[in-house]
Amino acid sequence: TKKETWSQRFESALHPAIARFNASIGFDIELIEYDLTGSQAHAKMLAHTGIISPEEGEQLVAGLEQIRQEYRQGEFQPGVDAEDVHFAVERRLTEIVGDVGKKVHTARSRNDQVGTDTRLYLRDQIQQIRSELREFQRVLLDIAEQHVETLIPGYTHLQRAQPVSLAHHLLAYFQMAQRDWERLGDVYRRVNISPLGCGALAGTTFPIDRHYTAKLLDFDDIYANSLDGVSDRDFAIEFLCAASLIMVHLSRLAEEVILWSSEEFRFVTLKDSCATGSSIMPQKKNPDVPELVRGKTGRVFGHLQAMLVIMKGLPLAYNKDLQEDKEGLFDSVNTIKASLEAMTILLREGLQFRTQRLAEAVAEDFSNATDVADYLAARGVPFREAYNLVGKVVKTSIAAGKLLKDLKLEEWQELHPAFAADIYEAISPRQVVAARNSYGGTGFVQVSKALIAARTQMAQ
Ligand code: ARG
Repeated sequence: TKKETWSQRFESALHPAIARFNASIGFDIELIEYDLTGSQAHAKMLAHTGIISPEEGEQLVAGLEQIRQEYRQGEFQPGVDAEDVHFAVERRLTEIVGDVGKKVHTARSRNDQVGTDTRLYLRDQIQQIRSELREFQRVLLDIAEQHVETLIPGYTHLQRAQPVSLAHHLLAYFQMAQRDWERLGDVYRRVNISPLGCGALAGTTFPIDRHYTAKLLDFDDIYANSLDGVSDRDFAIEFLCAASLIMVHLSRLAEEVILWSSEEFRFVTLKDSCATGSSIMPQKKNPDVPELVRGKTGRVFGHLQAMLVIMKGLPLAYNKDLQEDKEGLFDSVNTIKASLEAMTILLREGLQFRTQRLAEAVAEDFSNATDVADYLAARGVPFREAYNLVGKVVKTSIAAGKLLKDLKLEEWQELHPAFAADIYEAISPRQVVAARNSYGGTGFVQVSKALIAARTQMAQ
């Protein structure tokens, strides 16, 4: 049978394997609601400008609405013969409203149509992801507020460095998420531009009104150049960059949770609702959730890379290569949403910080050594000199199996006469944290201010 979609130019049908290869209906059905909305706006515009009659416009809009209902009720399930969602809808529309359905594609191409659909889809998804980010931030803040005074070892090079407030540590992730939220807002501005009316590539001979459809579809602007409008996917690449950064941030937190839950750290306990067992080792409780989040990061990075490569050699304007933009985009959106949800649940109810163990951890090492050097420097000893002196004490203490707090006052004073009895207070973990009261530091006063500022940021 001759394929009905193409013009009379075609005499025979596609080879079945080629039809399958060519078809995108298997995945672009995801766009159907946006396709229907976009087509309704287009039909209204055609009537508004007199390109079709008002009655025809109404019939098209109503027919498209019927398809929406059919789809929602599971009655509209186009097969591979429809090629893509756009043809599937047009075909069904013509079945429903008769010959007038054949007018819906006046002054339009699938090229500006699919570009419109993809932007409408992404715009919606960005809003959903942003509100999921807000939930994630809210949970981080809730936990942080409970742990201003809880201390946790701070690391550089994964070596104990200086203790910090646990709230400060969690607020670092809050700030990353805040930038992710803002970044998605920036991306949104360049997603929300209408290519509808760019036609196949060069515009159209009909007296269309692109501003009219843009307004109906809530676009902020329209593409100024038709060639650019139908072939641009930089908005998708920007989204994938932002998506990749969200995954980077989630993955770093995931990595920490995995470390913290290990026997080597013992900083957190995983609750049963968010942990899994082993099929052979009865004692195991595994951090599958953060591991999966860390692992899923790879696919989002992959989709970003794929999209960059898809675009790099494309001559203007539309090329079928662009059909390859969708699966990676959809998968990235789904991966981000699922990962954010899982991490939010994990934080909210799957993790218990072991405060006793954390208190021991910050008291059992030399992470107060900087404070000894700072103590001397504050009393006039040049910092480098103080630093060298303390290095010597650390060395002899390690050899003697002692911590700095175990040194007698005479030993301190032998080292330098500036030491007095207040050295013990100065090197206690609590004071070590409290003293870092510079803006953005871990001092309790700063952390309390940061929590208030974070609540304000969330209210925006
Ligand atoms: N399914 C196609 C896509 O996703 C729709 C646009 C097809 N346009 C074309 N000229 N073949 O890109």
